[in-house]
Amino acid sequence: MSSSAVAYARANYPRFLDELKDLLRIPSISTLPEHKDDCRRAATVLVDELKRIGFDQARLIETVGHPLVYAEWLKAPGKPTMLLYGHYDVQPTDPDDEWLTRPFEPAERDGNLYARGAADDKGQVWAQVKALESLMASGGALPVNVRVLFEGEEEVGGEGIANFVASKPPELKANVALVSDTELFAPGLPTLCVGLRGMIYTEIEVRGAKTDLHSGMYGGAAPNPFVALAQMLAKLKDEDGHILIPGFYDGILPPSPEELAAWRSLPFDEESYRLKEVGSRQLVGESGYSVLERTWARPTLDVHGIPGGFTGAGAKTVIPARALAKVSMRLVPGMIPAKSFELYKAYVEKIAPAGVDVEVRLIHSGDPCLIPVNNKYVQAATRALHEVWGKDTVFIRSGGSIPIVGDFDRYLGVPSVMMGFGLPDDNIHAPNEKFHLKNFALGIESIVRFMEESAL
Ligand code: BES
Ligand code: MN
Ligand code: MN
Repeated sequence: MSSSAVAYARANYPRFLDELKDLLRIPSISTLPEHKDDCRRAATVLVDELKRIGFDQARLIETVGHPLVYAEWLKAPGKPTMLLYGHYDVQPTDPDDEWLTRPFEPAERDGNLYARGAADDKGQVWAQVKALESLMASGGALPVNVRVLFEGEEEVGGEGIANFVASKPPELKANVALVSDTELFAPGLPTLCVGLRGMIYTEIEVRGAKTDLHSGMYGGAAPNPFVALAQMLAKLKDEDGHILIPGFYDGILPPSPEELAAWRSLPFDEESYRLKEVGSRQLVGESGYSVLERTWARPTLDVHGIPGGFTGAGAKTVIPARALAKVSMRLVPGMIPAKSFELYKAYVEKIAPAGVDVEVRLIHSGDPCLIPVNNKYVQAATRALHEVWGKDTVFIRSGGSIPIVGDFDRYLGVPSVMMGFGLPDDNIHAPNEKFHLKNFALGIESIVRFMEESAL
């Protein structure tokens, strides 16, 4: 590879890795109020580093929640402007006793770096920053104009960035966004993600008696909110994985025959997916759809937790006064979050058993997205990836959600290139999250070469 920026990246890789470890030591868990200052600290580290490598105007942008990180370098007249996106917030670490090493003490084992946020998404954010450093330090300039926008609330719905993007600020004028928050389809296989599911995340609260009651004295006469909740949850989805909310599937745009054919030629082994990634007795879901279709192109509904009542050791005979369930639905192209929520809410209210009050609340939502692939940036990306990984790029979708990607298109008219370097077995959101170190190194090189190719 002739790029001097790539040479710089290789020469400085050990330092890049040490710096990433420092970033990973900051427990920037966006959903936990006690980590508010840690989120700000992670954002500040990013601002300081962007300043250090030559983005004089790097700054925090305050939001209703955790701050955004913004920086710009616009000294390449006549060249395209690229908007770099990633998130510095991370998921909680529980269950903590399943981690082999502490989540915020990064540890190297067998070519991987283990820590919460390693792959999702600090490792990828740092790969972007280090690609910028490599280009700046080796050539004194960037091949394209660059705006950087990192958020600290992706894992909790991204309200702050959504408001900012919807206001269409001049800071976000760009030709293309580089989103580094996805994964390779398989180790060593360069991948662009061209579709994400959207989501609605909700709570169902069920209230029965005015206070907790003795279950012997009142059992049989007083309504039990947990039983009511279980009965309702059981009516949301049938045994075939089909969601029972009337009208829920209306308007869904199925993948094209060409896209389905391309998915069939991906190196995917269902049995090894079941055994190694999922680790369950069998896979479930809608019959008539492949696993990739089920997870990429079909909506689904999951229950995340049912807090409340008596959960201590031993036994307590109580009829709790209230019960709660956290329920989310993943949405696919053609579905509109507000519409889906309305249908769901009306259905849940309708199936509520007698004797309880039910409240359905929306916590956050995000649109599904499909990315156009017939543009010069996607071509630049596949050239860059071929050079770094020595293989043709595969185009995939992901079942996960990155709410802001749809907003970049809708509010700013900016198409995204989702080039990410996680792996399917990186354990994101789970114990023992890791980032494959080779992917960190080649990720930096891929981003460097993508920027260089985008200038042509
Ligand atoms: N990076 C993930 C999304 C993702 C995962 C994309 C795997 C591609 C492959 C992101 O950080 C994430 O977890 N998003 C949340 C969004 C939600 C809280 C709105 C998700 O998908 O649950
Ligand atoms: Mn992420
Ligand atoms: Mn995530």
